[in-house]
Amino acid sequence: MEVLPLAHALGAEIRGVDITGAVTDAEIDAIREAWHRAHVIVFRDVEWAPDQHIAFSRRFRGLDDHAATPHDTLEGYPELLEITNIPKNGQPSQTRNTGRNWHSDYSYTNRPAAASMLYCVTKPPVGGDTMFCNMVRAYEGLSDKLKGIVADLQSVYDFSLVSGVGKRDPEKIKELLKINPPIAHPCVREHDESGVKALYVSERTSHFDGMTREESEPLIKFLCAHATRPENVYRHQWHVGDLVCWDNRTTMHLALGDFDESQPRRMLRTTLRGELSGFVVPPAA
Ligand code: SIN
Repeated sequence: MEVLPLAHALGAEIRGVDITGAVTDAEIDAIREAWHRAHVIVFRDVEWAPDQHIAFSRRFRGLDDHAATPHDTLEGYPELLEITNIPKNGQPSQTRNTGRNWHSDYSYTNRPAAASMLYCVTKPPVGGDTMFCNMVRAYEGLSDKLKGIVADLQSVYDFSLVSGVGKRDPEKIKELLKINPPIAHPCVREHDESGVKALYVSERTSHFDGMTREESEPLIKFLCAHATRPENVYRHQWHVGDLVCWDNRTTMHLALGDFDESQPRRMLRTTLRGELSGFVVPPAA
């Protein structure tokens, strides 16, 4: 197995292992180790069916059944989210604006995603890229004073800040807001496998628990800008057959709308289930 860095801050391509076949336990361990080091790993030219995508993902961890976003799964496969701009039953796709602000998956639930594995089925001729930033480096780059301050904060995640909410079916959004009330998670999280500390705040953080939105906003903005500086980012330009796997405990990502929306883009994602976390809070003042 070869591990080739894709950017300075994060990202590596893995070659020399056929993930569509019988992957050995030793190969899974080596992939996991590379993943912990690079935070985002990429496999190219993968040709597989949904069952193989699910089976490979399960080798790392239990999978989320996406009960927090039940309308977005691939029919017959609760383990697969379908993220696409291709209309369904004559209606605009509900997932066409998914991921258009910096975030970590399922942060608005009580099981923030451990990791995600996104497979490119169809892509526009140009664009539709996804960017990733390293939240371990972001945390380590703070002054000791600010590290101390954020260590005491709980970031509140609010489903209404998910990108594209205003463009979705209002009835479905009402239901999703009920399933996913605002929830607070530690602003600095310790990785449950590697033990590394990472900043856990995003453009879906409405405020810090115990503070008003007005008080929280400047710090949220600073932390997001600090985390997403170009030198802390890897930008993935998709090819059909790419499988990009990111660790949601140590990264944020952003799906760019940098493409012709009349061209189809279709991706399938498994979500590796995270640990129970957080407490539900009332909306901020
Ligand atoms: C996501 O946020 O999970 C989707 C990313 C993408 O479509 O590039």
